[in-house]
Amino acid sequence: MPENRLTNDDLEKMVDTNDEWIRTRTGIKERRILKDEDKATAFMGTQAAKEILEQRDISAEEIDLIILATVTPDYLFPATACLIQKNLGAENAYGFDLSAACSGFLYALTTGANMIESGRARKVLVIGADKMSSIIDYTDRSTCILFGDGAGAVLLEASDDETGIIDYIHKTEGDTDLALYQPAGGSLNPSSNDTVSDRLHFVKQDGRTVFKKATVGMADVSAEIMERNNLTADDVAWLVPHQANLRIIDATANRMGLDNDKVMVNIDKYGNTTAATIPLCLYDWKDELENGDNLILASFGGGYTWGSIYLKWGMN
Ligand code: ACO
Repeated sequence: MPENRLTNDDLEKMVDTNDEWIRTRTGIKERRILKDEDKATAFMGTQAAKEILEQRDISAEEIDLIILATVTPDYLFPATACLIQKNLGAENAYGFDLSAACSGFLYALTTGANMIESGRARKVLVIGADKMSSIIDYTDRSTCILFGDGAGAVLLEASDDETGIIDYIHKTEGDTDLALYQPAGGSLNPSSNDTVSDRLHFVKQDGRTVFKKATVGMADVSAEIMERNNLTADDVAWLVPHQANLRIIDATANRMGLDNDKVMVNIDKYGNTTAATIPLCLYDWKDELENGDNLILASFGGGYTWGSIYLKWGMN
């Protein structure tokens, strides 16, 4: 996480909002912002990856594949995964970026796991990293209160017991009404003086529409994955939800019949870091996770993209 904090009090001075509104509507108290002008998503992703390599005491040369989930790559190309590969000195790895907004980390995780299961890769780094502050309009109170910057990473390896990714549900429904998108900078509306002056390089969101879809979508897939794996609330050790809004997280937990003490929530500290929210939860709770714990990961985001993963945690 970048060190610089952007609190609700800070935002009160920037737009017409207040701490009470933000806390009660979203659960967010502060977010982190990467201020250094020469640093971006690759930097944060590299830091997260380095820490995990140190923790596992393995060298970067052992990595076969790097998948980076992000909507804020350093450049449109080359892929930011390539920059991270270079920063790490992961000479034997190939890498690519995966764009699925807030569900990016879940999609990347199952892609990496399938590469391990097929025997085509032995060690896969899956990173979720976003510098959301680079695409947020700090004059738009409907979006600037929500997002923050950050990165998290996991290392996937084969297991020879019952642990690992057991099941997943991934969904996509093309949001042709564009309720959540960044209008310019792509091939349809390339950058121009007009796109800049019209502030079209920033996130635009119809919050109410997305909220309704997210609440139903995330709860549905989380309940469905429990049902089809015969899991009761007692069987689930943790819900690891995407951190977009505390009310969406609560609705998902309720539907699963889970008490609050089984739900990872750090939205108060970081806001919505898009692809980084789920690995950041795993990081913050890593000392409490035990071998064999049943985890349900769940997300909903722009695209629309959403899904859930049932995994058995594989280490202490
Ligand atoms: N401060 C004060 N008032 C505000 C603010 C603000 N920052 N923003 C909006 N308001 C006002 C609105 O103008 C509105 O006023 P009105 O009733 O007079 O018109 C009122 O507050 C309520 O606005 P809503 O938009 O209805 O507020 P809502 O309860 O829906 O909360 C929010 C807004 C937090 C954005 C919510 O809709 C939300 O969380 N949406 C989903 C976000 C999400 O999950 N996104 C997907 C993941 S992100 C990704 O994929 C990149």
